[in-house]
Amino acid sequence: MTSFAHITRAEDLENEARSRMTPGAFEYVRSGSGKEETARRNQTAFSRWDLLPRMLRDVSERSLETRLWNLTLRAPLALAPVGFQTVIHPDGEMGAARAAADMGLPFTASTVSSYSMEDIQSATGCAPSLFQLYWPSDDEVAVSFVRRAEVCGYDAVVVTVDTPLLGYREQDLKNRYFPLAEGAGMANFKTDPVFRERFGLADSSSQTDWQEAIGEVLLNTTLTWERIKWLKEQTRLPVVVKGILHPEDGRFAVEHGLDGIVVSNHGGRQLDGAISSIEALPAVADAVNGRIPVFFDGGVRRGSDIIKALALGADVVSIGRLYAYALTHGEAGVRQVLENLLTDLDVSLALTGCTSVSALNESLLKEKQI
Ligand code: FNR
Repeated sequence: MTSFAHITRAEDLENEARSRMTPGAFEYVRSGSGKEETARRNQTAFSRWDLLPRMLRDVSERSLETRLWNLTLRAPLALAPVGFQTVIHPDGEMGAARAAADMGLPFTASTVSSYSMEDIQSATGCAPSLFQLYWPSDDEVAVSFVRRAEVCGYDAVVVTVDTPLLGYREQDLKNRYFPLAEGAGMANFKTDPVFRERFGLADSSSQTDWQEAIGEVLLNTTLTWERIKWLKEQTRLPVVVKGILHPEDGRFAVEHGLDGIVVSNHGGRQLDGAISSIEALPAVADAVNGRIPVFFDGGVRRGSDIIKALALGADVVSIGRLYAYALTHGEAGVRQVLENLLTDLDVSLALTGCTSVSALNESLLKEKQI
């Protein structure tokens, strides 16, 4: 059997993960909504652009270092919010966050993480970290989450705006798999005084009571740009909106004073048939026009995917499933995959003829006529 350190191909990692997880949990991570067209296109659409590398440019000294607000990242690479990580491995977010921090990369803690945001933040130490908010249908709970993120030291709040309700995930419905019912993803709620008070819950309350209360409050169908503006007034942290695909929404984010956007379709898990993330990116980046940072996620599996996203206008690129699959090997698995991806990114940058990520632009790409 090959040792994990030799697994460098994303496809092999996915197959490995398949054999190490229960079918329900694996499909929860792998699948998209509907017929999974968007999830598939997220990966395949990168080949719509070919790289046009430059030669003879002395690439002996290279740096991947990236500035984000007042933060310095080792590379323009982040770990996207992935909820319920103990369904993958007991290390869960603690392991993934430690691995990211060791690499100098930001970890994004999900609202539905298996460990509390305070515990995850302590695992990241001094490394940059982001808190992802599913804005609960109770504003007081939402504000309580944001305050806690502020107090324990996160660098920004990422509000996911593509999930007023859960996408129609046929695999999960078929498997009757709901990670909340597995008892994962409750930590932030169980440790929130406002939430506990609102539902009259205590440590002694049953799992079913917790699950029902969380299910009732977790998502919010009423959000608008005005509400996001209000949330921004409640915190001194930068506020980023995650799930932008339309250029007009990119413009709205700037006009509403937000501090960043994430071009994302939630890994094809929300609206099936939605545009792939990479195909959405150029027009959104054009609309934002450098005024706020543009994060990107969806289908990233290799260094050249990151190079293409950066050349098309992203400032920071995030991965979801790639590290989720690696987490089946615990913290060490995530560390290994991040190391591999950073090496691949560095090699790809040099072979493109660039010495820094800021040198990447559309002149290094040729779009295929399809
Ligand atoms: C996610 N994603 C997600 N997004 C979010 O805002 N909050 C969350 O809790 C989760 N949870 C989650 C669980 C799992 C298992 C997956 C695969 C994804 C979406 C995630 O942040 C990101 O947008 C996509 O994963 C990016 O696509 P790739 O990299 O998985 O192709």
